Amino acid sequence: MIKRLRVLEIAGAQVQVFDTPANASEAAASDVRQAIRISVQATGKAVLGLATGRTPERVYAHLVESHRAGSLSFRGVSTYNLDEYYPMGPLDPASYRTYMHRHLFGHVDLAPNRCHVLDGTVPEAFAADHCAQFDRWIAAEGGIDLQLLGLGRNGHIGFNEPTNLPLERAVGLPTRGVDLHAVTIFDAAAEFGGEANVPRRALTMGVATILAARSVVVLAFGEAKAQAVAASLQGPITAEVPGSLLRTIPGKVAWMIDQAAASRIADVGL
Ligand code: GLP
Repeated sequence: MIKRLRVLEIAGAQVQVFDTPANASEAAASDVRQAIRISVQATGKAVLGLATGRTPERVYAHLVESHRAGSLSFRGVSTYNLDEYYPMGPLDPASYRTYMHRHLFGHVDLAPNRCHVLDGTVPEAFAADHCAQFDRWIAAEGGIDLQLLGLGRNGHIGFNEPTNLPLERAVGLPTRGVDLHAVTIFDAAAEFGGEANVPRRALTMGVATILAARSVVVLAFGEAKAQAVAASLQGPITAEVPGSLLRTIPGKVAWMIDQAAASRIADVGL
């Protein structure tokens, strides 16, 4: 039994607070395993939306461990990643394709033509087509069963950065090319050996695509995420805080966070 400190209901979202990121990751991995099993049993296949960054690394480690132990197969599973830098070669050590290969794809029985990461090598003139095609692939698969999400310090989901778009436009944003926010560039600097080397653009799964998932698990760990977590859960629902857009799909989102990331949620006594 994984130790949860609190389970809160905030604005239609379930918020599970754990003592450590390790326990939250174990619980998230267990949700992913269950989503795969239920969906494969019901339909013969499962569609996962996957995230990168430091936050989900332990979730992937648990899934790989289950696979190695013989208790989890990815046969029948398709995956769609949230984002990729642009331009970016798939073999670049800093690419999200490489990240996924290192943490998951290279260790499990996922068919290579079923693990999809937006292609950072697509010619500029065809990037929009490629992104629209990505959304069509997901739709043709019947949509995402479970979307794993991290949260940027600036509240971004995938690379959907804060904007001043009206809400109705923000929730309809498709998969597309975007400019990265200054905070995102700063936070990625270490992986690229300095801020100057961080690509200024990216391709990201759209807000609309994320919100269409049948369930969403959001992970956030550490004090650095506390402000973005509180703003997403309790601030105004606005494109300025992309995480807050998850409140437009009540009943579908589980936040799995540690105490430090929960520390600015108001009135919950943490
Ligand atoms: C990155 C990714 C996001 C990720 C977020 C948090 O820029 N594009 O998908 O969720 O920022 O990253 P980390 O988990 O390393 O804090």
